[in-house]
Amino acid sequence: MTQDWIASAGQPLRGTLDIPGDKSVSHRAVMFAALADGTSTIDGFLEGEDTRATAAIFSRVGVRIETPSPSRRIVHGVGVDGLKPADGDLDCGNAGTGMRLLAGLLAAQRFDSVLVGDVSLSKRPMRRVTAPLSTMGARIDTEEGGLPPLRIHGGQPLTGIDYTLEVASAQVKSAVLLAGLYADGDTVVREPHPTRDYTERMLKAFGVDIDFSPGFARLRGGQRLAATDIAVPADFSSAAFFLVAASIIPDSELRLRAVGLNPRRTGLLQALRLMGADITEENASEHGGEPVADLVVRHAPLRGIAVPEALVPDMIDEFPALFVAAAAADSPTVVRGAAELRVKESDRLAAMANGLRTLGLRVDETPDGATIFPGELQGGVVDSHGDHRIAMAFSIAGQLAKGEVRVGDVANVATSFPNYDALATGAGFALRKA
Ligand code: S3P
Repeated sequence: MTQDWIASAGQPLRGTLDIPGDKSVSHRAVMFAALADGTSTIDGFLEGEDTRATAAIFSRVGVRIETPSPSRRIVHGVGVDGLKPADGDLDCGNAGTGMRLLAGLLAAQRFDSVLVGDVSLSKRPMRRVTAPLSTMGARIDTEEGGLPPLRIHGGQPLTGIDYTLEVASAQVKSAVLLAGLYADGDTVVREPHPTRDYTERMLKAFGVDIDFSPGFARLRGGQRLAATDIAVPADFSSAAFFLVAASIIPDSELRLRAVGLNPRRTGLLQALRLMGADITEENASEHGGEPVADLVVRHAPLRGIAVPEALVPDMIDEFPALFVAAAAADSPTVVRGAAELRVKESDRLAAMANGLRTLGLRVDETPDGATIFPGELQGGVVDSHGDHRIAMAFSIAGQLAKGEVRVGDVANVATSFPNYDALATGAGFALRKA
C-alpha cells in the first residue's frame, strides 16, 4: 500500500528551521572517506534513504562505518586499493548519484560488482556514464537501452581521457573523475555548462592534486586520499521547498539556518528573486569549504518570468518547487532548455504539468520545458510518481488550494528529506497522512 498525504490551507509559515544535510555532499563524503587512508568524521550527514544506501554499500565492500549519533559517521578508510568484493548485488535504492558515482569507482577495482536500484532508478539512463568509462577501458554491461542493473567487470586497466560532457551532469563528471583516480595518466573533464563541483572540492580536501575551474577538471591517476573531517551544510534543494512556500503563503516569514549556497546550486534563488521574492542572506560563513548563510524569506507577490536557460543546470533539482511558485505568480512563467527533467526520479515536466492541471491550472508542455499559467488552485488528487521532490512540491500547492489536495505515493520523501512533514507542519503547513 502506498502512503499518501492530504494537504490543505494552512497557517502563515513562521519560525526558524534546521534543514537536513546536503545529499550530494553526504554521498561524496562517505565515498571519499571510505577510500582515504585513515579515519574521517562526517558531521551533518543526511539520514536519508539515498545516502544511507551509499553508506550501506561501503559497509558491504569492507569499510567499517560507525554511527555514534544521528547525522554523524565515523568512516575507517581502507585506502584506494582496500575495497573488497561484496557477497551479492549492491543496492543503490533511488539514488542516481550513488549508482553513477559508484559505477566510476567500482569499474576501477580488481573485482566484479553489480549495482541495482529501485523501480525509478531502474528506468534511468546509465549510458551517459558507461560510455565514457568504456572509453577509459572499463567493462560494464547494462540492460537493454543502457538501463540498470550495471554489471561491472573489474580488473580492467584504465587509461585517462579528455572528455567533454554531452549533458550537463555532475554525476557523469564525477564518475569519470573517480575512475580517473585509478587510470594511467591524466583525466580531464570539460563541461559545456558548469555543474556542481563538490567532487572536485572534496577530492582536494582529501589531499588529491586536482585542477579545476567552472567547466573544467583535471586530475592525475594513481593518487591517494588522506582522511579529513567533513562538515555537511544544509541542503539547498530541501530548503528550496520552504523558500517557495514562504514566498507564496501570505504573512509568512521563515529563517532557514546555515544553508549551503554553492553557486552551482542556487539558481532557484536567482529565479525567485527575478520573480520578486523577498529572500535575504544573513550570518554568511564557510562550512567545510562551502559558503553557507541563513536564508530569511518573507511572503512577497511574485511575477512570472522566462527562466534564463543559463540558470537551468544551477537549479536542476528545483523545478518542481519553481512550478509551484509559478502557479502562484501574477503572469505566466516559461521554462525551456530543461529536457533533463524528463529523466530524473520521474519525468518531472510531465509530473508537474499533469498535477497542476489536475488542480485547475493551464500548463503547456514542450519537449524541454513548459509554460505555467497561474490561477486559483483547486483541490484534487495528484500523483507524485514516487518522486520525493514532486511530493513536496504538491504539499506546498495544497497550502494555497481551495480544497484538499491528496498527494499520492509520498514514501520516497524519505530519500532526501526524512523529517519534511514534521518540519513543515511545525512551521504552519496543514499536512497529514491520509
Ligand atoms: C547530483 C547531480 C544532479 C542532481 C542530483 C544530484 C550530484 O544530477 O540532479 O540530484 O550529486 O552530483 P545530474 O548530474 O545527473 O544532473
